Amino acid sequence: MEHNKVYKSINEKDLSHFRNILQPDRVLFSQSDLQRYSHDETEDLSYFPEVVLKPTTTEEVSKILLYCNELKIPVTPSGGRTGLSGGAIPVYGGVSLSFEKMNRIISLDDDNLQMTVEPGVITQVLQETAQKKGLFYPPDPSSRGSCFIGGNIAENAGGPKAVKYGVTKDYILNLEIVLPNGSVLWTGANVLKNATGYNFTDLIVGSEGTLAVVTKAVLKLIPYPQKSLLMLVPFRKMEEACMAVSEIFKKGVVPSGLEFMERDAIDWVLEKIPQLDLNFEISDEIQAHLLIEVDGNYETELISDCEKIYSVLEQYDCEEILFAEDSIQKDKLWAMRRRVAEAVKAFSIYKEEDTVVPRYHLPELLLGVKKIGEKYGFKSVCYGHAGDGNLHINIIKGDLSDSQWNNEVRKGIREIFELTARLNGTISGEHGIGLVQKEFLDVVFDDNTIELMKDIKATFDPNHILNPGKIIP
Ligand code: LAC
Ligand code: ZN
Repeated sequence: MEHNKVYKSINEKDLSHFRNILQPDRVLFSQSDLQRYSHDETEDLSYFPEVVLKPTTTEEVSKILLYCNELKIPVTPSGGRTGLSGGAIPVYGGVSLSFEKMNRIISLDDDNLQMTVEPGVITQVLQETAQKKGLFYPPDPSSRGSCFIGGNIAENAGGPKAVKYGVTKDYILNLEIVLPNGSVLWTGANVLKNATGYNFTDLIVGSEGTLAVVTKAVLKLIPYPQKSLLMLVPFRKMEEACMAVSEIFKKGVVPSGLEFMERDAIDWVLEKIPQLDLNFEISDEIQAHLLIEVDGNYETELISDCEKIYSVLEQYDCEEILFAEDSIQKDKLWAMRRRVAEAVKAFSIYKEEDTVVPRYHLPELLLGVKKIGEKYGFKSVCYGHAGDGNLHINIIKGDLSDSQWNNEVRKGIREIFELTARLNGTISGEHGIGLVQKEFLDVVFDDNTIELMKDIKATFDPNHILNPGKIIP
């Protein structure tokens, strides 16, 4: 890549410097290690770093960045490597900065409902730690069992609960960050309201490791809702499943999960992940399902929500609703939903687009995607967080030639994004722009906006060492 001209390659002297900063066993450069850190879950992409560094303290991170900044060595922060836009892929080589050894839960303040963590804590681990105290950290991407909170912050991760509870940024009160010049600062304060100058916390959340490196995060927690009801609703027409979504909100219900799954999404989970032991039959006419959850503290409230939801569903062509009888069945249905991406990946090479539109426009988006697929000759499987208007579009390579895949499909993706923009939506709801969507940024931003982004990047990272090749075209 052209930038390689301006970046320095890592040599023996750099390695010995890193071994002075870190314990020697935190400096990895065997082929198998470099291979492991060369990819995340994005398509089949892989770019090798030249070294993997595993700091254990903020001070070590600061020393690494200071050194790399002076010598112009690229640094790509790396979390659980579950990302879907290539955020953790070290496109220009250099350092893969892994946070897996910074995985402490520093404190859980149950007087203020806050938790302070290091970036390498697995999201599910911090959720379970909070839950033991009756507290809830809602953002839960499907990968929550292996993704890191640092990666969630970098990508502003969402997940199924976002529809009621919001996304990562809504739970980040304050961040300790390290700038490329090695300086360490806090972005805000440990408070629920903050109108004090520019909001650096919100700027860093979702900046995909391109501006600064997060070394601590103060999270907001809320009381854990005591009860939930979950139903799986089969629809004979996929667009009707999408139409029902905005109607549910219009009835005054805010579900704690409202997920759409096209037929193939469920069929492939049943086929590719049989260990989930989901034994239900789907009749041939069914095109899509909604998975709908309501939660709260009072049974009567949930039953009233369900009645309102039924009154919407009876206007559409649905088959019999499957109600989860107990927590085991709830877990199974959620596991089915969470593992769609994995099942699609097991089925074929694919590209995952993360479109989001105001939810009333979801049927138009879905039908438009199918039409664009017909025009350019590709099959797609759609699923996602319908309550947020957030549709994951998985484009299947199947039997397409490499030339169709790289040319026709690319044109089709641009058209999908143009449709998304026309519907007042945008091109990523929760996966980020990273490497794979940056060529489409012009669909939603004009030159002035992109220039302003470049200026912000240059202010934080004048030598462009932090996660180069991401976000900005
Ligand atoms: C999901 C991930 C792919 O919704 O965002 O399963
Ligand atoms: Zn998702």
